[in-house]
Amino acid sequence: MIKRLLAGAAAIGAIGGLGFLYYAWYPPIEPVEPPDRGSFSAEQIERGRIVAAEGYCAECHTRTDNGGGPELAGDYKMDTPFGAIYSSNITPDPETGIGNWSEEAFQRAMHLGVSRKGVHLIPAFPFDHFTKMTDQDVSDLYAYLMTRPAVHMTRRPNELPFPLSLRLLQAGWKLLYFTPGVYKPDPRHDALWNRGAYLSEGNAHCGACHTPRDFMGAEKKSAPYDGAVVDNWIAPPLNEHNPTPTTWTEDELFQYLRFGVAPLHGPAGGPMSPVPHRFLSTVPEEDVHAIAHYFADVDHAAEREKHDKAALARAMEQSKIDLVGPTVDPDAKLYQGACAACHYNAAPSPVLGRPDLALNNALWLDEPTNLYQVILHGLTAEEGQTGVAMPSFYNALSDQDMARIAAYLRRTRTTLPPWTDLEKKAAAVRKTITTIPVNSSH
Ligand code: HEC
Ligand code: HEC
Ligand code: HEC
Repeated sequence: MIKRLLAGAAAIGAIGGLGFLYYAWYPPIEPVEPPDRGSFSAEQIERGRIVAAEGYCAECHTRTDNGGGPELAGDYKMDTPFGAIYSSNITPDPETGIGNWSEEAFQRAMHLGVSRKGVHLIPAFPFDHFTKMTDQDVSDLYAYLMTRPAVHMTRRPNELPFPLSLRLLQAGWKLLYFTPGVYKPDPRHDALWNRGAYLSEGNAHCGACHTPRDFMGAEKKSAPYDGAVVDNWIAPPLNEHNPTPTTWTEDELFQYLRFGVAPLHGPAGGPMSPVPHRFLSTVPEEDVHAIAHYFADVDHAAEREKHDKAALARAMEQSKIDLVGPTVDPDAKLYQGACAACHYNAAPSPVLGRPDLALNNALWLDEPTNLYQVILHGLTAEEGQTGVAMPSFYNALSDQDMARIAAYLRRTRTTLPPWTDLEKKAAAVRKTITTIPVNSSH
C-alpha cells in the first residue's frame, strides 16, 4: 500500500515537474534591426516619455555609484536582502541594450517578466506591477526608449547566491506569487478613481515600496500599503494605518506627489524624493490628481478628516513649548540648540518650508529610522520643497545626542509610547551611510 502511495507521489511529482518546465519555458524572440526613429510619431514618443516618467524607469536604470552613468544605460545597483542586483541597459544599443528587441519582445518583458532570449527576469524589476499596463502604454514606452541615445555599456553581474542565481527558480516564484494581466477597471468606481488605481497599482508601483514583503520577497497581498522598509528608510503605511495625526487628504497627497511637499505633513525625503521631483512633476497634472484621488480612498480620508482640526491645534500647542524661553530640561535645551531655530511654529498652522515635527511621519512611526535618516542626511535644496534645505548633523550630533532628541520629540510631540534602544538604533542608521553628506554642519 505504502509503496503504491509512494509510486503515486513520484508520478505526480514527475508530471508536476514536467508541467512546471512547460510553464517555465519561453522561446527566445528573434532579434530585429533597431527600428528607425522615423517610424514613431512625435506624439507617440511624447506619450511614451510620460509613461516612462510614471514608472521611474530612469531611477532604476541609471547607475548612481561608481561616479554615475548615462541615463537608462543600466548597471544601477539594488541592494536586496538576497544580494546585490544590477539593472539592465534599456537604451537602444543592439549589443548591450535592447536595440534588437522587437516590440513583441518588449511587451512580453513588461507583461510577463521574460527577456527577449526567454530568460526569467528577477522581480526587482517590478513586472508584477508593469503587467497591469495596457498594450498601448507599453507600445508608447517602446517608442520612447527606442528613440533615446544608444549607449554601449555592460552591467556588472548580479551577486545572488546559489541557488537564487538560477533563473529557472524565478519561474517558481512567479507560479506562487505572480498574477499576470492588464488592469481591469472597477465598475463600482468612477473614471478618475480607476485612472488613479491603474497608475498606482501598475506603472507607478507605489506598493513596491509601501507594501511589506514576505520572506520570499513578494508583496503581502493581505497587507496592501501597510508600510515597509526600503533602502534603510521606512515607507509609511498609505492606508488607514498611516500614523500621522492629520489625514492624508486628496489635496495633501496631490501637493506632496506633485511638488514634493505637503502643507501639513512636510517634505518627501529619502527614496521618496525622486518620485515627485524627478518624475510626477513632469507628467500631466490630471494623472497626479488621479493618484491622489485613489489614495484618499485607500486611506479613508473622508471618514478621518473630521479629527484633523483638533489634531492640528494639539500639534501647534506642542510646538510652542520650545519657544517659551529658558528651560531646565537638558533634552529640551539640546533640541533648542540644534533644531528649534528652524522647527518652531505658532497657530494656526505650520509654515511651508518649516515642517512641524509634531505632524511629520518621522515621530509617529514605530521606529525612529526616518527621523535619524533626516538628521544624519539633512535635506538638500532639491529634495522636499524646492529651494529650502536642512543641514546634515552627521558630524555635529553624536548617537547619544540623536537618541536624546528622538526621545524628547517623541515624548513632547506625540501621544505614543516611547521608542526603545534609541542609541543603538542611531548607530545602526549611521552605519548605513557610506559617504558623509556634503552639507554636513560642524
Ligand atoms: C525598482 C527598480 C526598477 C524600475 C523602477 C524599473 N526597472 Fe527595469 N529592471 C530592473 C532590474 C533590476 C532589471 C534586471 C532584472 C534581471 O536581471 O532579471 C530590469 C530589467 C528590465 C528589462 C529587461 C532587460 C533585459 O535586457 O533583459 C526591461 C526591458 C526593463 N527593465 C524595462 C523597464 C522599464 C521600461 C521601466 C519603466 C517603466 C523599468 N524597467 C523600471 C529594475 C527596475
Ligand atoms: C522607491 C520607493 C518608493 C516609491 C516607489 C514610492 N514611495 Fe512613497 N515613500 C517612500 C519613502 C521611503 C517615504 C518616506 C519619506 C519621508 O519620510 O520623507 C515615502 C513617503 C510617502 C508618503 C508620505 C507618508 C507620510 O506619512 O509621511 C506618501 C503619501 C507616499 N510616499 C505616497 C506614495 C505614492 C502615492 C507612490 C506611488 C505614486 C509612492 N509613494 C511611491 C518610498 C517610496
Ligand atoms: C537650518 C534650519 C534647520 C535646522 C537647524 C533643522 N532643520 Fe529640520 N528641516 C529644515 C527644513 C527647511 C526642512 C524641510 C526641507 C524641505 O522641505 O526640503 C526640514 C525638515 C525636517 C524633517 C522632515 C523630513 C521629512 O522627510 O519629512 C524632520 C523630521 C526634521 N527636519 C528634523 C530636524 C531635527 C530633529 C533637527 C535638529 C537636530 C532639525 N531638523 C534641524 C530645516 C532645519
